[in-house]
Amino acid sequence: MAQGLHTEPVIDWATDFDLFDPAFRTDPAPIYKALREQAPVAHTERWGGQWMPTRYADLAEVTADTDHYSSVTVGVTGRKPGEGTLVTAPPITSDPPEHTATRRLLLPAFSPKKIEALTPLTRSIARSLIEELQARGDGLADAADDYARHIPVRVISAMLGVPESDEEQFTDWVVRVLQIGPYDFEVGGQATREILAYFEEKIEQRRADPAPHDDLMQFLLEATYEEAPLSRKHILGTCFLLLVAGIDTTWSSIGSALWHLSTHPADRARLVAEPDLIPTAIEEFLRVYSPVTMARIVKADTTLGGHELHPGDRVLLPFPAANRDPEVFEDPDEVRIDRRINRHAAFGLGVHRCLGSNLARMELLIAVEEWLRAFPTFELQPGAVVEWTGGQVRGPRTVPVRLFGEPG
Ligand code: HEM
Repeated sequence: MAQGLHTEPVIDWATDFDLFDPAFRTDPAPIYKALREQAPVAHTERWGGQWMPTRYADLAEVTADTDHYSSVTVGVTGRKPGEGTLVTAPPITSDPPEHTATRRLLLPAFSPKKIEALTPLTRSIARSLIEELQARGDGLADAADDYARHIPVRVISAMLGVPESDEEQFTDWVVRVLQIGPYDFEVGGQATREILAYFEEKIEQRRADPAPHDDLMQFLLEATYEEAPLSRKHILGTCFLLLVAGIDTTWSSIGSALWHLSTHPADRARLVAEPDLIPTAIEEFLRVYSPVTMARIVKADTTLGGHELHPGDRVLLPFPAANRDPEVFEDPDEVRIDRRINRHAAFGLGVHRCLGSNLARMELLIAVEEWLRAFPTFELQPGAVVEWTGGQVRGPRTVPVRLFGEPG
């Protein structure tokens, strides 16, 4: 459990759920299942009030309906419109039509060709982390902390054009914004201000730098919106978004995949024997261990699952719950690494569907491929305690494993 977080025990999940309840953070799936069957749109007064649909169809309805549900703030807790300044981070905090334009301008930077070009860098990051583990020679590693967490932050640093040597600072900010920030607003707010100040300085330096650059920061400086250069606020908000959106999410997914393989030897052995199956397995890991829950704010009276919702209400979008809906997935609680039909919602649904999904998939594929190549046999250390974060982004922060170099 996260330090300093104390919540009152939950007695009735349908009317008083708590995203930060220790049992929920450790394994939300049984709670989502009970809610889906008994109270498919749950409600709580906690954290300023939240609605929580758990059926895939209800999440699809909310994400498709941008007339009634706004993305003006997408945090699972925190300020609502009218409660103080909200961070604007286009396109994730924009509604159509602004969303359409601010998203479209970013698309070329995330094209398959651009992502493909990052493959060698990603592979070399994964390999150098593995070499460090091999050099230690003790046959032990933390697959989350020594490996998963470093890959996305190094890749996004290179994409944005900020120094990889600031990695620990970026990780600290992301932890404060996404892991602590949802329940300690002061910590999240302070980290947000620090990130914006950091990019403010980097952008000023870049404007004064005549050398050519091929990175996202330069791309944003040269991009146009409504036929004019992007405003300073727009550039800052988007840099903030790209740093925050790409790190914790992918770190969580790589960590979950390796945690699964460290605890399911048959799946591990099958992927070692059939590496062509890794992309299919990754989709299954994304489905069952989906890390991200988002939110919307109701902007006009509407109903959801028979409940009346009013402007200002917050609606959570637990994509992990949608991904276990038996209406959409056969035997949803079973992890089938060869599941062929798998239209999961880990990357969201509707117009805000993840812009970085190709990047995330590439990083996941390379991370798992390189790990299995180096450590075809590994297992969770006996008695190891795996700590999961939860709330906005869920994933294992520690996966202590024993490594064996040869297939076993
Ligand atoms: C496994 C890793 C990832 C997961 C599970 C994930 C999940 C999501 C989800 C659920 C959304 C929808 C947000 C909403 O509906 O409000 C989203 C949006 C977004 N993601 Fe990701 N994400 C991942 C990795 C990345 C990466 C690596 C980047 C790159 C920087 C990224 C950038 C974005 C952006 C820019 C949006 C906003 C898109 C829009 O508003 O149109 N994500 N992501």
